[in-house]
Amino acid sequence: MTDTHVHDGGAHAEGKLWGGRFTGASAPALERLSRSPEQYFSLVPEDVAGSLAHAGELERAGIITGEERASIAAALEQLVVDHREGAIRPLPQDEDVHGYLERELIARLGPLGGKIRAGRSRNDQTANDLRLHLRRVIPEIAEGVRELTETLLARSREVEGVVAPGFTHLQNAQPILFSQQLLAHAFPLARDLTRLENARLACMASPLGAAAMAGSTLAGDQRAMAADMGYDDVVRNSIDAVSSRDHVVDFLYAGAMLGADLSRLCEEICLWSSQQFGWARLDDAWSTGSSIMPQKKNPDIAELARGKTGRLIANLSGMLATLKSLPFAYNRDLSEDKHYVFDTAGTLRTILPALTGLVRTVGFDAGAMRRQAVQGFTLATEIADWLAEQGLPFSEAHDVAGRSVVHCEARDIGLEDLTAEDLRAIDERLTPEVLERLTLESAVARRTGANGTSPERVREQQAALADLLEASRSASQNGRSPQ
Ligand code: ARG
Repeated sequence: MTDTHVHDGGAHAEGKLWGGRFTGASAPALERLSRSPEQYFSLVPEDVAGSLAHAGELERAGIITGEERASIAAALEQLVVDHREGAIRPLPQDEDVHGYLERELIARLGPLGGKIRAGRSRNDQTANDLRLHLRRVIPEIAEGVRELTETLLARSREVEGVVAPGFTHLQNAQPILFSQQLLAHAFPLARDLTRLENARLACMASPLGAAAMAGSTLAGDQRAMAADMGYDDVVRNSIDAVSSRDHVVDFLYAGAMLGADLSRLCEEICLWSSQQFGWARLDDAWSTGSSIMPQKKNPDIAELARGKTGRLIANLSGMLATLKSLPFAYNRDLSEDKHYVFDTAGTLRTILPALTGLVRTVGFDAGAMRRQAVQGFTLATEIADWLAEQGLPFSEAHDVAGRSVVHCEARDIGLEDLTAEDLRAIDERLTPEVLERLTLESAVARRTGANGTSPERVREQQAALADLLEASRSASQNGRSPQ
């Protein structure tokens, strides 16, 4: 559209759902601002689903005959096909998907096409379209999350028995099973699945029938319309139906939190694949090279996904900022909602398969992990714990173990290299029995508390995660709206 492009005012301006009370034409700058972004026009199936339900209601209300409803329905269904196949497309003067489809419907059915508008408004239509859209995309995203989580679980099972250093403050802390570290990324993703599912449930009440905001004098059976569209409830208050977008925020939050969780995994993959760590070898198909340094193999997928977390968070905070202080019912500000939803959904759909492929194919170096697992005196807690078991107050035990570290540092050896003689020199309470505690296997195997790193506990964690994934899969197939 150019600056010189001005449409006639008046009720018959094509693609515009208003105009009768205007005598002058719209300013091009207004039209540019008001026109929906291109992607909004992709909500054709959702808008048609709402129109089909609404046509049914108009028939029940006696506004159109059964025959008229059938013709309208057939034409609407054809519009979905024609739009999908590219036989029709939005024109520059179509303000939004609602105007686009009505223009096409009138072109096909003549004045009958104009009957569909009775008893509804774009305010309830747009609210309905986005809820239907979220009901479709959330399960798709959840499936991507489940695939990644399942891949982490499979890799966790594959590296059974591999010991690695566990970290706090990015400093070696205590030995762990690497399979547990992988699960530490999988469990948050399982919770993200719950968040996504909650967001989907929040979309399960229909706003259709609220019309502009007060409800309609013509069409009143919102329950029947809701059922036609597969909702399990109706939004109780018509003003709330057109003005609230907290379900959108629920989705954007689930997306932002998922992004933050993914970014933590990504960050570790970057570290694991660094020369300093040397834990991971990226597969050729899932890594990239450098234009100048021939030796390079970069974890671009992990970096790109980590970077996109910024967008996911921005979409959440942007939507909240849009919603803040909006008065009364519908305000045009709300048309920003789709922008955020499309961006978050598109971002996640791009990230998830790439990350899943990366995780599925990355090679792990168990030897490097094991060598590093003792570095930084990670067995020091074993000495302190053993002394505590012998009855020493932990404050003293801690001190003795600390002096053991100093002893080793001075000799450039590790705690695992200590001899009975060394122990005696450090403290007479350190008898040779402590030596059998100073192995990686012992440190890991003794952490048998319910959520610990011992092999049997990690196997339980794997089984628990598998159950969560199973539950998530069946939950996404049903569930009621919390409304
Ligand atoms: N095009 C709008 C949107 O993007 C829907 C129209 C809402 N109603 C109105 N009176 N302009 O959500």
